[in-house]
Amino acid sequence: MTEPDFENRIVAPEYMDMEDSDVERQLRPKTLSEYIGQSKVKENLSIYIEAAKNRGEALDHVLLYGPPGLGKTTLAGIIANEMGVNFRVTSGPAIEKPKDLAALLTNLSEGDVLFIDEIHRMNRSVEEVLYPAMEDNALDIIIGQGPSARSIRIDLPHFTLVGATTRAGQLSAPLRDRFGVIARLELYTADELSRIVKRSAGILDIEIEDGGALQIASRSRGTPRIANRLLKRTRDFAQVLDNGIITKDSADNALNRLEIDPLGLDSIDRLLLTAMIRNYNGGPVGLETIAAAIGEEAITIEDVYEPYLMQIGFLSRTPRGRMVTPAGYAHLGLPMPSQTGAVNNPVPLEQQKFDL
Ligand code: ADE
Repeated sequence: MTEPDFENRIVAPEYMDMEDSDVERQLRPKTLSEYIGQSKVKENLSIYIEAAKNRGEALDHVLLYGPPGLGKTTLAGIIANEMGVNFRVTSGPAIEKPKDLAALLTNLSEGDVLFIDEIHRMNRSVEEVLYPAMEDNALDIIIGQGPSARSIRIDLPHFTLVGATTRAGQLSAPLRDRFGVIARLELYTADELSRIVKRSAGILDIEIEDGGALQIASRSRGTPRIANRLLKRTRDFAQVLDNGIITKDSADNALNRLEIDPLGLDSIDRLLLTAMIRNYNGGPVGLETIAAAIGEEAITIEDVYEPYLMQIGFLSRTPRGRMVTPAGYAHLGLPMPSQTGAVNNPVPLEQQKFDL
């Protein structure tokens, strides 16, 4: 069995190295018309943007949520660009103290977009500064201490807060309620990803055939960040082993070498499903138990691995826990447990060979 390499998981959308973030910036669409997919969100946003511009007002606060790597930061940048205002970027964990947020807010200009990534990880004390800022464009500051302490209110410019989170459910209700627009980003279809891959290849001057783009697209777990990363890796293989053109065959060869299967699952996805089947009869099994079994954090399993496994119908969530579906068993070539509940595979766990 090959050791799973969590750190360098090529299909992990949340992991970004320097090369990735530089390339990502270069590939990022700047306007809604350049942005591929998420058509419902795009259509609605374009209406809200046009309406706010016509009224000469700042856009209402926007919350974007969905799995990592789907383009939440990109979309926030597009909102700023379409509104013709500055784009200021920070993240929940980066704002440590209320005064850090106060500094950010007082430096905004009229109409600016303030983007807070991972907004669910913001401190409670920081969050409280945000409420009057979002609602009344005001900052309440306490001056002095003890009986002589008094609160003064500073006016802020009108601004648009764009918050991004992988989990809207973790946001406190008062914060969630202050967003006028709440938009959920969905995993992309293979056709949309294929268009994204071809667009990126054009920008990066990579020659790619339709078949090659579709191979990459269908093995990118519905996620543009993964598709763009796989595009760069398949280019390397095509360049060194072939004539540099990404064809269906050269992409297929490269992705097989990267151990990404035809549905985009990597060794860790297979480990997760296999562990559930071998150790827990395919479920139902609790998230924490799965996490302990494969040595990964429960939150990562929930945010990163599960959305795609559920989307392709390999995993289901039930009130009693997670279950591997018949399609999941079939993909791994493993037998389903028999009707009586007995396991079809009586080999003790320690003697089982895991084909990863
Ligand atoms: N690059 C990353 N995400 C994209 C998207 N949704 N549209 C176009 N290019 C992208």
